[in-house]
Amino acid sequence: MDHETFFRRLPKVDLHCHLAGTIRPATLIELAHKNDVPLQTSDPDRLYVFDDFYDFLDVVRTAARCLIDHDDFARVAYEALADAATAGNLKYAELFFNPTDYYPSGVDYRTMLDGFIAGLRDAESDHGVTARLIPAINRELGPQTARDTVAEVIADRRDEVIGIGMDGAERGGPPGLFGEAYRMAGKAGLYRTAHACEDNQTLEEAPPSNIATCLDDLGCDRIDHGYNILGDPRLVQRCSDDGVPFTVCSHTCVPSRLTTRWRNVRRMLDADLELVVCTDDPPMYGTDIGTAYVTLSRELELPRATAIDLALSGIDATWLDDDDKRRLRKEFTTEIAMLTARLPA
Ligand code: ADE
Ligand code: ZN
Repeated sequence: MDHETFFRRLPKVDLHCHLAGTIRPATLIELAHKNDVPLQTSDPDRLYVFDDFYDFLDVVRTAARCLIDHDDFARVAYEALADAATAGNLKYAELFFNPTDYYPSGVDYRTMLDGFIAGLRDAESDHGVTARLIPAINRELGPQTARDTVAEVIADRRDEVIGIGMDGAERGGPPGLFGEAYRMAGKAGLYRTAHACEDNQTLEEAPPSNIATCLDDLGCDRIDHGYNILGDPRLVQRCSDDGVPFTVCSHTCVPSRLTTRWRNVRRMLDADLELVVCTDDPPMYGTDIGTAYVTLSRELELPRATAIDLALSGIDATWLDDDDKRRLRKEFTTEIAMLTARLPA
């Protein structure tokens, strides 16, 4: 087995993946047609080409508007997991969705949730991959909408919904605005994470202090992205000492930003931060969970042992309970032993 196949077949978790960003181009074109939503193009090769991060956010939100009924949501969740299991041996995922992306089309919270959960269940029985859901606040819509989003989540609790997240452009909603929404979620027993310090925002737009706010004021126990933390060595040391997980992504919306991303992930790894390799918006960014490991292994020159450590430590960063984590660890170590035995001596 060659190097690339080994990284692809390594069992994996993905803790930073947006369902609206997982839609296959052909599926999106079909759903847009079925539900009468205009797209910028119906050329599948042009659909996911972006000018910049803000253009990408427009496209991902338009994509969300193409999901209307229960079966649309079920299909998207199913295909997200099926594709990740096939391309990268995904075993477990925690998947974001923004309820507010779907409301403008008249979809209610229960419909999206029922549909996503049905898709997750079918994918589990067909592909052996399990998943949980993370409703996410769109920070650009402000603190009142954030509180409304969390209230909706609390009013319709499901076992599959384990925490809340927050995404969107950080310059349009610094984390300090969302203390009350996060307090509501914490009181309801939900885990908490947030996008912070994404490297397509400047240090002024997304300063390292935003990470401290997420940890200290919002009660987050992990951070999505986090690259701009490198601007504050003392905070890096603190997060390294405390073992705060960062869900870093090998790919981003514009190819010209890739080398910066890889350099940042390398520096975070060298600083002994706890990293979980993730996908963000896989087909939109031209990746999948297998490609994420292959790419970082190649670009960061990771030894096989480091990739194995990353795959296993991802389990510790999940929001599963201890029994489920133990079960997953056992499954991973068995598969890794089998894979390693097939490597040339
Ligand atoms: N929504 C989907 N992907 C995102 C990202 N990478 N950053 C912020 N919001 C997002
Ligand atoms: Zn993201």
